[in-house]
Amino acid sequence: MSSQYVPNARIRSLVFKTSGEASRHAALIVDRLVRENNSAGRPTVLGLATGSTPVGLYRELIRLHKEEGLDLSGVVTFNLDEYYPMPADDSHSYRRWMHETFFDHVNIKKHNIHIPDGTLQPEDVEDYCQRYETAIRKAGGIDIQILGIGRTGHIGFNEPGSQRNSRTRQVTLDPVTRRDAAGDFFGEENVPQQAITMGVGTIMEARKIVIMAFGEHKAPIVLRAVENPQTEAISASFLQSHPDATFLLDEAAAGELTVYRRPWEVTAVDWTPDRIRQAVVWLSLEVKKALLKLSDLDFRDHHLYDLLREHGPAEALGEQIFQDRLASIQNYPAGTEPRTVLVFSPHPDDDVISMGGTIIRLVEQGHKVHVAYMTSGNIAVFDHDARRFADFVESFNRLFGIDAKTTASVRDRVQSFLDSKSPGQPDTEEVLKIKGLIRETEARAAALACDIPPDQLEFMDLRFYRTGTIAKAPIHPEDINDIVKLFERLQPSQIYVAGELSDPHGTHRTCAEAIYEAVRRVRKKGQSFEVWLYRGAWEEWEPHQIEMAVPISPETVERKKLAIFRHQSQKDKAMFPGTRDKREFWQRAEERNRSTAAAYDSLGLPEFYAVEAFVRWRDL
Ligand code: F6R
Repeated sequence: MSSQYVPNARIRSLVFKTSGEASRHAALIVDRLVRENNSAGRPTVLGLATGSTPVGLYRELIRLHKEEGLDLSGVVTFNLDEYYPMPADDSHSYRRWMHETFFDHVNIKKHNIHIPDGTLQPEDVEDYCQRYETAIRKAGGIDIQILGIGRTGHIGFNEPGSQRNSRTRQVTLDPVTRRDAAGDFFGEENVPQQAITMGVGTIMEARKIVIMAFGEHKAPIVLRAVENPQTEAISASFLQSHPDATFLLDEAAAGELTVYRRPWEVTAVDWTPDRIRQAVVWLSLEVKKALLKLSDLDFRDHHLYDLLREHGPAEALGEQIFQDRLASIQNYPAGTEPRTVLVFSPHPDDDVISMGGTIIRLVEQGHKVHVAYMTSGNIAVFDHDARRFADFVESFNRLFGIDAKTTASVRDRVQSFLDSKSPGQPDTEEVLKIKGLIRETEARAAALACDIPPDQLEFMDLRFYRTGTIAKAPIHPEDINDIVKLFERLQPSQIYVAGELSDPHGTHRTCAEAIYEAVRRVRKKGQSFEVWLYRGAWEEWEPHQIEMAVPISPETVERKKLAIFRHQSQKDKAMFPGTRDKREFWQRAEERNRSTAAAYDSLGLPEFYAVEAFVRWRDL
């Protein structure tokens, strides 16, 4: 596992290529200490966290236990927190989550497990919290504390304003935290207002702290916790004064750190072509001067003397990067001869949201564009839409005298299930099918808006997605086989894949990895095609990263927006629990495409109305 230290970090920070590698590293730290203590006949006291971040760590510890003889019978655990109030067996309780995710699969003794109790009477909470502290002390204190970090900078549920010496107590959750949890609770209004959490002071007493953060959505808070001075506004920043705290990051979560954004400010830089491009584009945007107008002084004023000395003068650097960026502009993304193009869309609307303009251009330029919708996307459909469509079909069938009895009974079953459905309860198969169908028909309508006929669409419904819940299964071997078969059948010259790094529930990442694996397999058999990555529905590639910039005219942007509108069930997605940004997809897509065009414009490149951006996939 290769990792990199962050040079200017105030908390020791290690960056791994993937969250999987970082999780394995964390598991090895625990593994080493437990084995050492086991041989010395000592218990090991672990402080544990819940949430999406430590899942990989728990999976790896389970594997080490099952396959490599890691004995956890001497381990004592204390969990950081629990919602309050929260019944112990509620599907949202951290207690239940810990058992299902970890404890049920290893040999930690039941009486050694401690998780704050969400079922207490209000008057008992304070006393209980003190006893929790005493129990930690009696166990000898925490050897290794595992932490995640919330977007508010919380550790445990120590929200902004928590004091450095706070102890285990009842707290009120920050609105941002409740919004982040809303997806799991199917609505912000269902997320408890309060929680019981270990305090910052409690956490700081652990002998060793391993804090992890994965995904692009954590990058801004990681930057503030790791590079800015300690502050009550970000509880995690207090870890700066812990003698043995380490941040384990994946590249996406580390993405905002200075060492990635402007490495030349904090470390000696090897001036590779990519790095030169990053620096010169950054400088041009920073000083708001076109590439061809940059001066030596601009470089010197911005920590770029080395670059100037090694590759200058400014005029040469500006000219080099100007030519390079100019070459990224591509009006014919698949060339001028008709070819077969395959666009993969993880959910049924990522294609048009992310690259609708390019799709429209490809079709206009005479290419045969196929779209493969990898999952049904049924989880993202509101109940009221399922109800409406069941009603529609029943009324439709009655009107036209079609099998009215069966449809009425489906509608009734759907309605009575939805009437009694509690927040977060998984849907019935029937409801899931209706929701999937809603998205499938929307995808067909959206593709038609791009002039792609229905027989060029594939609805793959990959298995890993079919859990009926937000949590997804790992990729299934048959999923990869399905993609291989698609390549063999369509023989594309070019494929497009969502290369998103931040998709919170991992669907895009899983889809991308399945495609990469399938590409490797068909390449071995001699099939070859270009693989281009669009970023995804939330973010865009940055101006220095773009390898293919496709100019999009105002008319094409309007058509793209129409195609996005056809995904009607996603129109009120902005109100969907857990949605990070309340603007609608078409608004954000238009803003992104126009801001890429604006960046190219301010670099002194041709002025376009909008631009869709792509990078090439390189197998590492
Ligand atoms: C969980 C906890 C929280 C989480 C944090 C990050 O026990 O105390 O501080 O670690 O909210 O959550 P995820 O990992 O879901 O992003």
